[in-house]
Amino acid sequence: MQDFKIEIANCLKENIEDLTLEEIVGLIEVPPNKEMGDYAFPCFKLAKVFRKAPNMIAAELAEKIEAKGAISKVLPLGGYVNFFVDKSQLAKNVINDVLTQKEKYGHSDLGKDKTVVIDFSSPNIAKPFHIGHIRTTVIGNSLYKIYDSQGYNTVRINHLGDYGTQFGKLIVAFKLWGSKEAVEANPIPELLKLYIQFHDEAEKHPEMEDEARAWFTKLENGDAEAKALWQWFRDESLKEFARVYDLLDIEFDSYNGESFYSDKMDSVIETIKEKGLLKESQGTNVVELEEFNMPPALITKNDGSTLYMTRDLAAAVYRKNNYDFDKCIYVVGSQQSLHFQQLFKVLELVGFEWAKDMVHVPFGMVALENGTMSTRKGRVVFLEDVLKQAIEKTKETMLAKNPNALNVDEIAKQVGVGAVVFQELSNSRIKDYTFSWERTLSFDGETGPYVQYTHARCCAVLRKANEEITTDINYELLNDEDSSEVLKVIASFNKSILNALRKNEPHIITRFVLDLAQAFNKFYHDNAILVEDVELRKARLALVAATRQTIENALKLLGMHAPERM
Ligand code: ARG
Repeated sequence: MQDFKIEIANCLKENIEDLTLEEIVGLIEVPPNKEMGDYAFPCFKLAKVFRKAPNMIAAELAEKIEAKGAISKVLPLGGYVNFFVDKSQLAKNVINDVLTQKEKYGHSDLGKDKTVVIDFSSPNIAKPFHIGHIRTTVIGNSLYKIYDSQGYNTVRINHLGDYGTQFGKLIVAFKLWGSKEAVEANPIPELLKLYIQFHDEAEKHPEMEDEARAWFTKLENGDAEAKALWQWFRDESLKEFARVYDLLDIEFDSYNGESFYSDKMDSVIETIKEKGLLKESQGTNVVELEEFNMPPALITKNDGSTLYMTRDLAAAVYRKNNYDFDKCIYVVGSQQSLHFQQLFKVLELVGFEWAKDMVHVPFGMVALENGTMSTRKGRVVFLEDVLKQAIEKTKETMLAKNPNALNVDEIAKQVGVGAVVFQELSNSRIKDYTFSWERTLSFDGETGPYVQYTHARCCAVLRKANEEITTDINYELLNDEDSSEVLKVIASFNKSILNALRKNEPHIITRFVLDLAQAFNKFYHDNAILVEDVELRKARLALVAATRQTIENALKLLGMHAPERM
């Protein structure tokens, strides 16, 4: 069964030709008080089309729509048609769906035979995996889970920033001041130190920039020394990234980063040239985009070297040929919006009809409380530190509550990391935000630990009951206000997932699961569950089991765990 809104919208649709089902669903509201019904359809928009007063339209629609299935009553009130839901029927449909579909509840095969490529995380080699990268990492991972749940084939790509002039700088710095032992002992902080030192020195000695460029050109031309150093920087960096991905439980299908395309750019440049799009401009090669109100896309520099853009063009073509995607998503900060607009436009101009399937999913910037983050200045917060502190704090809290708690390390990891992930996903992704240690480590209010705690509470009740959960119950016993609220939220799960998918917005799932936790906690506080009355107890336990399952499924879509105890 789908959400009630859809069922109601279907009844309305039979009588309204001028609106699509989607538009009708979008108009359906929840009335301000329960006596007016569970859902309401406003007729004001139709007044123009029907050339009638809204209250007339409402009266006529209510007359025509038959109360059937889960809809128990249809009544007009002013300009609204009010719908009353049969609460026992609601309970029966929802609980049967959840308890038979289990971990598949909410899933569908909407995306069957369709492929979506998701480019996310994509950190830069030899630079720290800082708090700014966490957004792309957790948003991308959640999008992967969301698409996967709806039956899409998915390809997770980590487009590592493992190429470009910064490697020339690093080689110069390492040859001047670096030591192999120091880098091996502490790779990224050490490489970062060299990178910062390079920038400090280059301010005084600008000729160092030329030297760095020369080393990058050597690297592009396959010079053995340059390649060996680059490979080593890359290997050491990947070891560190692997630790963070391990903490977050995130995997990729491909680590083809920028360097992977070093031998695949010529043919793309050739294609652009053949189409007559490549223009020489002060020694560089560009595609003019003035007509589209954009600065030109730089394809090759004066010295012939390629750029981030060139590699992204090659990567897009490679992905189309290799995966034949229906959609290719880039989860990258909003600072790069122009870059992606240019990229997509160039692909379109070249004549690739699939350019329309490219999507940039931007997100806002992360600032630090004491100012902007700057890798060059060394002002960064390391993601690994944030995760480790969150885990440590969770452990302390758990042990303070119960010194004999079981499995503390495992659970503290699931809850601590979950807290950070949930916080990242709880705001609409486009909003900028300021990173705060305090907020990240606070477990009060609308947080991940609160939701996980609600799940653990369901588990505790089910453990204590220690009896079989069955769907063969008296559903009349679940038609009270508190139970119906929980059931209504559960019923809307699939719709929330589809909404999140359409908007590429995992925050819709965090909102959903918070609503569910809140509705459940109200039910829990107002009603005893393990009551003497067998019928009532069985009915309420089924509701607890359905809630537990749905919270678990929702947390998984966010890339979180649902521990059974905490
Ligand atoms: N490495 C880049 C950065 O950290 C992000 C790469 C995103 N993906 C892409 N195909 N351009 O800013």
